[in-house]
Amino acid sequence: MSADTEPARPSAAAPRPDLSGLEPRPGVPKPDPIVKGDGIRRTFGGLAAVDVEHIEIQRGVITALIGPNGAGKTTLFNLLTGFDMPDSGEWSFNGTSLQRVAPYKVARLGMVRTFQLTKVLAKLTVIENMRLGATGQRGEKFWSAALPFLWRSQEESNTRRADDLLARFKLDAKREDFAGSLSGGQRKLLEMARALMVDPELIMLDEPMAGVNPALKQSLLGHVKSLRDEGRTVLFVEHDMDMVRDISDWVIVMAQGQIVAEGTPSEVMSNPAVIDAYLGAHHDTDLTELDEHELESEAEAELNHETSTTADEHRKDAP
Ligand SMILES: Nc1ncnc2c1ncn2[C@@H]1O[C@H](COP(=O)(O)OP(=O)(O)OP(=O)(O)O)[C@@H](O)[C@H]1O
Ligand SMILES: [Mg+2]
Repeated sequence: MSADTEPARPSAAAPRPDLSGLEPRPGVPKPDPIVKGDGIRRTFGGLAAVDVEHIEIQRGVITALIGPNGAGKTTLFNLLTGFDMPDSGEWSFNGTSLQRVAPYKVARLGMVRTFQLTKVLAKLTVIENMRLGATGQRGEKFWSAALPFLWRSQEESNTRRADDLLARFKLDAKREDFAGSLSGGQRKLLEMARALMVDPELIMLDEPMAGVNPALKQSLLGHVKSLRDEGRTVLFVEHDMDMVRDISDWVIVMAQGQIVAEGTPSEVMSNPAVIDAYLGAHHDTDLTELDEHELESEAEAELNHETSTTADEHRKDAP
């Protein structure tokens, strides 16, 4: 990518902003926000899925967005990245207003997201998926179609970048495989690698750990940290509290569409409003226990599903 399109990222060597002195309250202003939003509201029927008075995301750190199912986390991601339209509200990225800006333009500005249910294209190969991630670059522009040498050099540099990223995410051996043949965890990695094709300044990950087997989790955590360490800003949605505790510099908590708490991981996890948001009146249960309960019931549901599918298969096999 040429120097004039390279986003202005803090250098990897820059000291990480210290947020520990910030007042832990919803909407608290940050020293150097990369995203700022006001009055963002999205309703579905009568339900306010998102109703955020004020939000700021600090540049150069990892922010976790947590909250119970249905809190509005994915809807907020959709709104900020142009995949959905709010009823009202305004927000900006690096000072540029993003109302009514299409997702591919948002990506071009340096803000990309991944999806809770990965959107890798199963019938394309891994490298083809990666090349698709480069949309928004010079090769697409109308004038370059008239200048094939420019377009070709862009293609070549995209392929080089894709191969470098595949090697970094240890997917290079899968280069020519169909994305549909990858495991859940590998798809998450591919989606993250693909998002990096546009060299984003802010990367937003919607549940990067969901469906990832434990063996891959550590490596995924390492990848997310390395995004920050190379100067990018990371905003991720996650239910896995160990991951939140382990890698986030700041945590924003949503419940019923609103931001109900913010703070460092330890501040947030001892905050009664957070425990409330997750548990209603059960103040005495802590988040770790909740997580375990949740995991247990998920495992049970999975087991039941498996037993019933196996039973179905047996029925099919029966004469
Ligand atoms: N397209 C839609 N149409 C109608 N209701 C929707 C739509 N998308 C989201 N909702 C509702 O908005 C609320 C917020 O949903 P959202 O998916 O943003 O929650 P979430 O915090 O991401 O939850 P999860 O942790 O389960 O992913 C939920 O009540 C959901 O049912
Ligand atoms: Mg969600």
